[in-house]
Amino acid sequence: MKVWGKYSSTTPDHGAIIPGIVDKLKITGGARLNGTVQIGGAKNAALPALAAVLLTDKPVELQNLPGVRDVRTMLRVLEQLGASVRPVEDRCSGVHVKRLASFEAPYDLVKTMRASVLVLGPLLARYGRARVSLPGGCAIGERPINLHLDGLRQMGAEVSLEHGYVEASSQRLRGIHFNFPIKSVTATENLMMAATLAEGTTVLGNAAQEPEIRDLAEMLISMGAQIEGAGKDEITITGVTELGGTSHEVIPDRIEAGTYLVAGALAGEALELVGCRPDDLEPVLQQLRQTGVPIVVEGKSIRVEKAQHLEARDLRTAPHPGFPTDMQAQYMALMTQAQGTSLITETIFERRFMHVGELQRMGADIRIDGHTSVVVGPGRLTGAQVMATDLRASASLVLAALVADGVTVLDRVYHLDRGYEFMEKKLCALGAQVERIR
Ligand code: EPU
Repeated sequence: MKVWGKYSSTTPDHGAIIPGIVDKLKITGGARLNGTVQIGGAKNAALPALAAVLLTDKPVELQNLPGVRDVRTMLRVLEQLGASVRPVEDRCSGVHVKRLASFEAPYDLVKTMRASVLVLGPLLARYGRARVSLPGGCAIGERPINLHLDGLRQMGAEVSLEHGYVEASSQRLRGIHFNFPIKSVTATENLMMAATLAEGTTVLGNAAQEPEIRDLAEMLISMGAQIEGAGKDEITITGVTELGGTSHEVIPDRIEAGTYLVAGALAGEALELVGCRPDDLEPVLQQLRQTGVPIVVEGKSIRVEKAQHLEARDLRTAPHPGFPTDMQAQYMALMTQAQGTSLITETIFERRFMHVGELQRMGADIRIDGHTSVVVGPGRLTGAQVMATDLRASASLVLAALVADGVTVLDRVYHLDRGYEFMEKKLCALGAQVERIR
């Protein structure tokens, strides 16, 4: 299935969004899913990989970029900073920052995508100056960036907050020993990138261990960086004076794969996910298997079908290698159809239960008790008009709609488009009834 063409920051969205008009998805429940779905590149690996391009004045080619809005936003941030972006072929872009045109990641772009803050470390490391809008709170939690700033300050940067912007400047950054008080994915990435060009050695303790960190380290190493331990709790980076160009293939998206696994568990007859990295999905596979979902892993593909008997199982999100918070909402949709009561505890973000109210509107029996949702299943879901509030909440509502009686209309699909490429096309190709409407 070819659903993708050449890619740049201006490639239109699936059904190009016209300002003021917001797309909706109309989903008719009840179809069984059959066939093969190709998993795209990981959004959360593509975004730091794009930011890393700022660390060199040589051209970089990135393959397997997912066709999602956040990647287009990051390409726009880079263009704003002076990058030239050249669509190469399917899912591949060449990005070259020969000279910087500006040091600023402006509010208009950062407010739509917090991950723009990933340009801070590379800008400071290579140019000694950066002006990046503060992202502010978001739908799933406050999400401060204090750890990014603390680390950069310790590396010698002067950092102040002025008019809603982080203003940072420095001479050459210097290596530090930095222990994260809590694990943070993008703060680990920001400091790892900054340290590649710093003077001396940096040791990052209690570093995030997500597969996306390892992918970024592999890309940086291919550019000439000296990094050891990425993917483990402690990362050691020895600074070099310059980095070169590279060609790097972004890893498959484990959260997109996990989302289709839940779709298969709910409504699959014979569903096969291809182009995955099953090792990266181990915490999700383990949890789904415990609930009775039949899953067969073979190389890079995973086969899944609807569970004959789905058992409720409790869940607690945790940093990798724990169960990812980015799959919590989708798992909750599954648990509405499981036999028994499950306690789903969110430990990473303080407001990541925005899907609960919408699932309730579809008939789910869910009660929130602090950081835990109590889900009682199995219950009949009925199609309703629901509202997407953030990326993964939207995915959870799409999944619930696949098994609901009647028609669900999901509003504010732009949240979904931030992180899922062509979701309605991929689902339709599997036999689901999903239509993009205005
Ligand atoms: N935190 C701080 N201070 C900081 C940074 C983080 O207190 O300076 C806190 C956060 O508020 C949160 C916890 O640390 O409570 C962990 O957040 P983390 O920094 O790891 O999140 P992130 O780096 O902003 C990335 C992903 C998210 C994913 C989280 C957790 C990217 C671009 N984003 O965010 O992805 O949920 O890690 O795994 O990699 C998504 O794709 O839907 C998404 C939200």
